[in-house]
Amino acid sequence: MIQKIIQKIQFLVAREKGRAKTKKELQQLKKHNDVRVQKMALILEEVISRKEISEGALTKVYALEQKYANTSERIDVVDYGAGEPDFDRSQQTQEDGVITTEKISYIHKMASSKRKWGHLIFKLIRTFQPTECLELGTCLGVSAAYQITALQLNNKGFLTSIEGSSQQAELANKNLTDFQFSNHKIINGKFSEVLPSILDKNKLIDFVFIDGHHDEEATETYFNMMYPYLSDNAIVIFDDINWSQGMKNAWSNIYKSNRIDLSFDVYQWGICFIDKTKENTIENHFELRI
Ligand SMILES: C[S@@+](CC[C@H](N)C(=O)[O-])C[C@H]1O[C@@H](n2cnc3c(N)ncnc32)[C@H](O)[C@@H]1O
Repeated sequence: MIQKIIQKIQFLVAREKGRAKTKKELQQLKKHNDVRVQKMALILEEVISRKEISEGALTKVYALEQKYANTSERIDVVDYGAGEPDFDRSQQTQEDGVITTEKISYIHKMASSKRKWGHLIFKLIRTFQPTECLELGTCLGVSAAYQITALQLNNKGFLTSIEGSSQQAELANKNLTDFQFSNHKIINGKFSEVLPSILDKNKLIDFVFIDGHHDEEATETYFNMMYPYLSDNAIVIFDDINWSQGMKNAWSNIYKSNRIDLSFDVYQWGICFIDKTKENTIENHFELRI
C-alpha cells in the first residue's frame, strides 16, 4: 500500500516536472519565426493548462460522452485493426476482422479519444480552419463530434469519417445527426476498400486524423494513398505513434520523409504539416510531452 502511494507520488512529481519543462519549451516556440510553430505552441499551452473552451461550445459533445459512458447497451463490433501492441494480428485476420459483442460504455472507455485529445483536435481545427477533413476510425463518433463542432463554429468545412464496424458507424451517425450540423458524413467500410473512392470524389483534403488500424504497413499505405490528394498545406495527425514497435517505425519513416515540412511528436499523437509549395522541406521536428 505504502509502496503504491510512493509510486503514485513519484509519477505525479515526474509528470509535473515534465509539464514544467514543456511549458518552458512552449515559451520559446511562441517566439519561433514559423507562424505555424507559434500557433501550435499556443494551442499546446492551452491544452496543458486545461483552459476550458469558452461559451458552452462543447456542450453537445460532453453530453454525448456522458451518454456513452452511462449506457448499458451492447453492440456487435467487427474489428479490422492491428490487435495488441506486442502481438500483431496476421494480415489475414486484419483483413477478415474479429467479431465480438461489447458494451458501448466499454468501447467508449477503451477507444474514444479522451477529452484532452478532443480539445486538441478542436483547437487545431479552430486555429487552422481546414475545409476538407478526413478521419480514419469513427468508432462511436466522439473525436468526430469535436471536429464537426469546430467546423460548425468556423462556419465552413466538412468531415468525412470512415468506420469499418457497421453498428458503430450506425450509432455514430445517429448521434452526430442529432447535433443538427450538415457538415459531416460517416462512411461504413474497410479503409482499404472505401478510401480510394473517397479520395477520388473529394476535393483536396486539408486535415486528416488517422485513428484506426495501428499496423506499421497499413499506416504507411494509407498515408501513401492519400498523399497525392492532400492540399498544399495539409495537416495529418497520426494517433498512437508509440503504441507498438510497428507504429514507432511507421511514424519515424513518415515524419523523416521529405514529404513532411514540420512535425510535432506529443507522444500519443504525431502531427505533421505538409508544404507542397516548397521544393525542399525544412523538416523541423519537435518533441513535447503534454
Ligand atoms: C481508436 S478507434 C477510433 C476512435 C475515434 N476516432 C474517437 O476518438 O472517438 C479505431 C476505430 O477504427 C476502426 N478500424 C480499425 N481498423 C479499421 C479498418 N481497417 N477499416 C475500417 N475501420 C477500422 C475500428 O473499428 C475502431 O472503431
